[in-house]
Amino acid sequence: MRILITGASSGIGKQLALDYLSQQHQVVGVARGDLSELEQQGLQALRCDVTDFQQVREVLGAQDAFDIVVLCAGNCEYTDPEHFDAELCQRVWQVNLQGVANCLDALWPKLYAPCKLAIVGSLARLLPFTRASAYGSSKAALHYLASSLRVDLAPRGVTVHYVQPGFVKTPLTDKNNFAMPQLISPDKASWAIRNGLEQGRWTISFPTRFSAILRLISILPQSWQQKICIHLANSEAQ
Ligand SMILES: NC(=O)c1ccc[n+]([C@@H]2O[C@H](COP(=O)([O-])OP(=O)(O)OC[C@H]3O[C@@H](n4cnc5c(N)ncnc54)[C@H](OP(=O)(O)O)[C@@H]3O)[C@@H](O)[C@H]2O)c1
Repeated sequence: MRILITGASSGIGKQLALDYLSQQHQVVGVARGDLSELEQQGLQALRCDVTDFQQVREVLGAQDAFDIVVLCAGNCEYTDPEHFDAELCQRVWQVNLQGVANCLDALWPKLYAPCKLAIVGSLARLLPFTRASAYGSSKAALHYLASSLRVDLAPRGVTVHYVQPGFVKTPLTDKNNFAMPQLISPDKASWAIRNGLEQGRWTISFPTRFSAILRLISILPQSWQQKICIHLANSEAQ
């Protein structure tokens, strides 16, 4: 298969690229940073900033069709409840949301069956976690985007998949200074994504137990969810 992965230089995207390469698939990886380690394993590297509309159009627009597209490039910054910071929001939304839109714009003419399009969101979209207003809203927006694209791309035979990881040990989470329940390795995340795509699941959620707990809380009344999250925020502050 021919597979495109954005965010291939690090963490989940890197592991996914390595695993698909080891299964002899043709993998094209996108990132701004160093992809040389993966190039040695046979990756076709595309250096590109997903927030740069023109660059994405030129770089991805020149590519042939893919069997699997995984839009994984993302970043996370936590807000300070004492000060609302619009620039922080812009930094997070630019990569997580506009970056995905830029890639879709460039890839759109090539998105036909049997392509599977995976958009990497987060379980954070499910609940109003403290300090996650910028990150969580970007991932909630991606959920709507993916769901809507699933409808719009159905006539073309393209299936759209929303990937929602819990905590995965990567440079992104290495910066976190709070407890991360059920933190898993990138290996496990990569397996869950590959398996979920193979099985054609709409949402690919992992790890199983953590995601089941969050999904259960997310069906409670909103006021209860908010009370639970206020309680969590207070315990984190102590
Ligand atoms: N780790 C977790 O616990 C977790 C949980 C839920 C969801 N996720 C999501 O999973 C995805 C991958 O996260 P990760 O933990 O693997 O993070 P990571 O190790 O920090 O990797 C992020 C990747 O995104 C790329 N990227 C960032 N900004 C970019 C830009 N402007 N243009 C092109 N590429 C860019 C980075 O490449 P360069 O810097 O080289 O460009 C890197 O390859 C993200 O969407 C994240 O939100 C992660």
